[in-house]
Amino acid sequence: MRVAITGVAGFIGANLAGKLVEAGVSVSGIDNLSYGLKENVPSGVEFHEKDIRDSGLGELFKGADVVFHLAAKNCISDCQSDPVETASINVAGTVNVFEAARLAQVRKVIYAESSALYEGISQFPTPESDVQPESFYAVSKLAGMHFAEAYKRYFGMTFTALRYFCVYGPVQDYRRTIPPVMSAFIIKLLKGEQPVIYGSGRKRRDFVYVDDINEFHMKCLTDSRTDNRTFNLGSGRNISVLEIYEAISEILGVSIEPLFKPDLPGEAQETLADISEAKSVGWKPRTDLETGLQNAISYIKGEMDKGRI
Ligand SMILES: NC(=O)c1ccc[n+]([C@@H]2O[C@H](COP(=O)([O-])OP(=O)(O)OC[C@H]3O[C@@H](n4cnc5c(N)ncnc54)[C@H](O)[C@@H]3O)[C@@H](O)[C@H]2O)c1
Repeated sequence: MRVAITGVAGFIGANLAGKLVEAGVSVSGIDNLSYGLKENVPSGVEFHEKDIRDSGLGELFKGADVVFHLAAKNCISDCQSDPVETASINVAGTVNVFEAARLAQVRKVIYAESSALYEGISQFPTPESDVQPESFYAVSKLAGMHFAEAYKRYFGMTFTALRYFCVYGPVQDYRRTIPPVMSAFIIKLLKGEQPVIYGSGRKRRDFVYVDDINEFHMKCLTDSRTDNRTFNLGSGRNISVLEIYEAISEILGVSIEPLFKPDLPGEAQETLADISEAKSVGWKPRTDLETGLQNAISYIKGEMDKGRI
């Protein structure tokens, strides 16, 4: 089997590529390295530094059975400050990927939506049935969803849409201005500095470990029950930001008061996945929070030892 991945130098893409190479799958990947790093791309992957908006993607996808489309501008605050670039990458870029997959006669496209599609919904746990995006990021993901529907309708293409909740684990990008909450806490606490909590810390998030979603990715390759369906990928449990803070502090054996700052724009107060749909095809998240956190901490410590942080 041959698989192509967009966003292969990013967090989820690099983890997925590693898993596929381990399983003996032939993997190629593209990334423009705007957020991701080339060193994240596992050896054995044929890497092309390319933007998803470029022409000629069809050539790169030739011979691929499946395309995972993961590349996106995906930091909510970055998207809020640049809606034009957000639409250019997440909408026009996504359509360019779908079109290239069509031209290359790829059997299936598996692409990333997001739990951000549920921003305005207050039904918890949240099923896949209704969406109410609010932020520019979420709206751009909704546009991708509609384009996938149209490609199915007019060209009979096969898609699987993945609505990731808060994925965490090794290789998660910690370099951005406002890093994902777990990485941000781990780095500051390891340095003995005061981490920042935006808002009251009562926002609740459904965290899911990256190896667990990789199990679902692998299932999508071969299990036809995943064809033309949409799946929430979360753990089905949520935890407040303050509770995460306490859990990380406890594992690290430190006690530092966080610094509270005003809430960030465009962020939902709560996320909690209804994962019955994913369970119905035989998947379940297996990694408990403590094990996942230990692995995330080991990764950050490794980066510190290499002098990268
Ligand atoms: N990580 C999460 O918790 C989460 C949650 C919901 C949805 N998602 C979605 O999953 C996907 C992967 O997320 P991630 O956490 O790995 O993000 P990431 O930022 O680590 O990876 C995305 C990659 O896409 C690349 N990229 C961005 N714009 C590009 C462009 N124009 N052309 C080519 N490459 C480009 C970046 O350089 C980066 O390497 C994204 O679509 C994201 O929106 C992630």
